[in-house]
Amino acid sequence: MSETQTETVTITIDGKEIECEPGTLLIKAAQDAGVFIPRFCWHERMKPAGMCRMCLVEVEGVRGLPPACTTPVADGMVVHMQQENVEKAQDGVLEFLLINHPLDCPVCDRGGECPLQDQTLAFGPGESRFVEEKRHFEKPIPISDLVMLDRERCIQCARCTRFADEIAGDPLITFVERGNQTQVLTFPDDPFVSYFSGNTVQICPVGALTAKPYRFKARPWDLATSETSCQTCAVNCRGAVQSTTNEVVRFLGVDSEPVNHGWLCDKGRFGYEYLQAADRVTEPLVRMNGEWEPKSWPEAIDAAAAGIKKSIEMHGADSVAVLGGARGTNEGAYVLAKFARSVLGTDNIDAQLGDGLPAELVLGLPGAAISDLDTAAAIVLCAPDLKEELPVLALRVRRAAEELGVPLIEIGARDTGLTRSAHSVIRTAPGATGVAGAKLAAAINGQKAGSVQIDEAAALLEGRDGNIVVILGRPSLAESADSAIAVADAFAQLERSIFLSALRRGNVRGALELGCAPGMLPGRVTLDDGRDWFTEQWGSLPASTGLDAQGILEAARDGRIHAVILMGSDPLADFPDRTLAKEALDGVDFVVALDGFLTGSMRRADVMLPATMWSERAGTTTNLEARVQRLAARVTAPGVAMDDWRILSELAIRFGTDFDFESAAEVQTEIARVAPAFVGITNELLARAQDGVRLPAAEHIEDVVMTSGVGFLPEFSWEPIKPGTVFGATEPAAELDADVEPVATDGLPPMVVWTEGAREVSAPAADAYSLRLIVGRSLYDTGRVTSGSPSLAELAKRASLRINPVDANRIGVSNNGSVRVTSPRSSLTLPVTIDPTTAAGTAFMWFTPGAAGAPELIDAGSVVTDLRVETVRA
Ligand code: SF4
Ligand code: SF4
Ligand code: FES
Repeated sequence: MSETQTETVTITIDGKEIECEPGTLLIKAAQDAGVFIPRFCWHERMKPAGMCRMCLVEVEGVRGLPPACTTPVADGMVVHMQQENVEKAQDGVLEFLLINHPLDCPVCDRGGECPLQDQTLAFGPGESRFVEEKRHFEKPIPISDLVMLDRERCIQCARCTRFADEIAGDPLITFVERGNQTQVLTFPDDPFVSYFSGNTVQICPVGALTAKPYRFKARPWDLATSETSCQTCAVNCRGAVQSTTNEVVRFLGVDSEPVNHGWLCDKGRFGYEYLQAADRVTEPLVRMNGEWEPKSWPEAIDAAAAGIKKSIEMHGADSVAVLGGARGTNEGAYVLAKFARSVLGTDNIDAQLGDGLPAELVLGLPGAAISDLDTAAAIVLCAPDLKEELPVLALRVRRAAEELGVPLIEIGARDTGLTRSAHSVIRTAPGATGVAGAKLAAAINGQKAGSVQIDEAAALLEGRDGNIVVILGRPSLAESADSAIAVADAFAQLERSIFLSALRRGNVRGALELGCAPGMLPGRVTLDDGRDWFTEQWGSLPASTGLDAQGILEAARDGRIHAVILMGSDPLADFPDRTLAKEALDGVDFVVALDGFLTGSMRRADVMLPATMWSERAGTTTNLEARVQRLAARVTAPGVAMDDWRILSELAIRFGTDFDFESAAEVQTEIARVAPAFVGITNELLARAQDGVRLPAAEHIEDVVMTSGVGFLPEFSWEPIKPGTVFGATEPAAELDADVEPVATDGLPPMVVWTEGAREVSAPAADAYSLRLIVGRSLYDTGRVTSGSPSLAELAKRASLRINPVDANRIGVSNNGSVRVTSPRSSLTLPVTIDPTTAAGTAFMWFTPGAAGAPELIDAGSVVTDLRVETVRA
């Protein structure tokens, strides 16, 4: 950092001296020093607009009253707020804003937490000179499936329009008309279709934008609030979950600098409704003569233990397998890994469902933080569509590429939600991503690729220092992981590559970090490297590496696995190859499910053990950059549901092993003692680490920002809520100096390092009569969260086949026509969507968990899946 960047300037506000960075906006400098300048339109995460004039101040030597939100500080600046001319201006602005405001506060969602109410009280005139009729609009009108607009209440601050344009990249709301008729609206025939629309509701300073799922549900003073992380996907956005009468009714974004900048996607924001779904299981169930029967916990645990024991006694420990852990807490994942290895004696365990990447690769590659995107030499995207699967990560990538100018290179077979932001797009055939990625890595390393496109992409890095952040995932569920592995291998040869894994499930990273993968033990240790240490800690370990999810399902189908434990895992819905998943579950003798719902695979279970879900259980979660953050238990789970770590501990007792865990905190304490990547993450540290702790903790612990534990109640929920906020407290949060001690890992087993060399991967040649299948997940799919949330359910994408016009012409099908599609697995009749963005020779389908479609067609045993497509004659 240069000397000039570290200089500070000194300004004075109402006699208080403030030191700040040159160029800081006056409103921000004041806020950081604890001085609140009133505002409506300014938002810390967006460009200033100067729309509302609520922040007018006097600056000595400057004519008039400049807005503090557009005025940068300068050394020696003297600012006055508490004086007559400024107060008169504030009176005037509020008087004007209220001319047309309907003052329907008693029936407005914002009533009681409304910046217009609060700032009118604090800074307003007390009375109005205007008695004329107010303007009227139809109210409210839906502007999307989730957001209602009440134009009468709008104060035209442009926060919503700027968010949609600047942050989300969905500029679908705008101002129309002029003067007294100015209003926010969508474009004719173009609804506000955005995965991020709920953010506009949160940042609207009045009740002009309201969320359909929350409207009239509660008054703010009835809400109890806890800070937590979203677990709908692996970004783990920070948020504040709010409940009333033991029901979650709202989830607000919290502004975590390293993770989500305060934003949430709409699935994360509104998906809490599924917690109340009708098929929630509230008591243990045991299948008796083919029918479910409610049982007490001891009876159900006995039944579960008996079935598993029978399998072990008759067929050995390797006849038992465990799938799951990726949707729960770190504590649940750790106890699952320990239970499988030290109690059951099996290494057949996998948190992923044939749709991820090898655990050694995810854990053993040099890791990137999300914030590394901002300063990268380039971002290489070889992953599924982030906007669909990890939406707020997509926002961070978009910001890095568009606002911060970081070159974004996308490699893949199809346009994604980030293609518009990419500086270079390398299109490949499905299955050929690995080859293109290897060529790109070589070109960045100075070898000519022989492809203008790839050489031009590599040239984007010329003169740019810093890391190459490779975002790595499975671009298509109809392809094996080989391509992604090949890209990882190629970029791992470049010293400055660091990797972000684009894995989707809420705590998949935590589950892998804690040993829910074959051959991996908690803390990034392989079974071989950790054998002595974990045998000492746990008592015993399986002799050899077990099977992954695909191997488990194949073994179950072939009669080699006899009992399966599913923990928050639904292979029938989620495993890409449904034929295999179905044959596997039909083939096993005994299934125990720990889950909150009776769906898909759970219906095949013999014992159903009701588990607590998000917002009902305390603990920790680990996001895709390996950041461990706390989860809050905001409500009590329905019925007698228990935390998964507790259920497993009870089961272990039936096998003669007492783990002796009484709370999630005790599990954390053991993890911090035995799992090398977690050493140092004490309960005390977790309770006060403002942004959590990245793994391996020993490397990152000294960067942890601590809070005193006393936060402040954000006066308005529309302002960015800081992590570490203790809701209901009135004192400002005190940040303590980082007093975190370095951590020693001497004597612990080594952490895994991915060392595979570059390899060539090739897909079989496509024949001229087939279309090569690409399958991607959509944010609103037919899975549990979407289908269980009434507000989201209708948004789910249904099965259809998207093909290029050239192929449609050749096949002889028109848009919305039907075709018969045949893969090596199955045959289906599907509607067709003609889509020029799907390349000729390929076909795209959304993945449809639990519903007919792509999962019936995918062949997990092949590198790619090819389809025969024929017209259906009426
Ligand atoms: Fe501002 Fe809300 Fe009006 Fe949008 S709808 S301009 S956020 S007051
Ligand atoms: Fe939740 Fe993921 Fe959406 Fe963030 S991006 S709000 S973690 S679903
Ligand atoms: Fe400064 Fe609106 S906050 S003009």
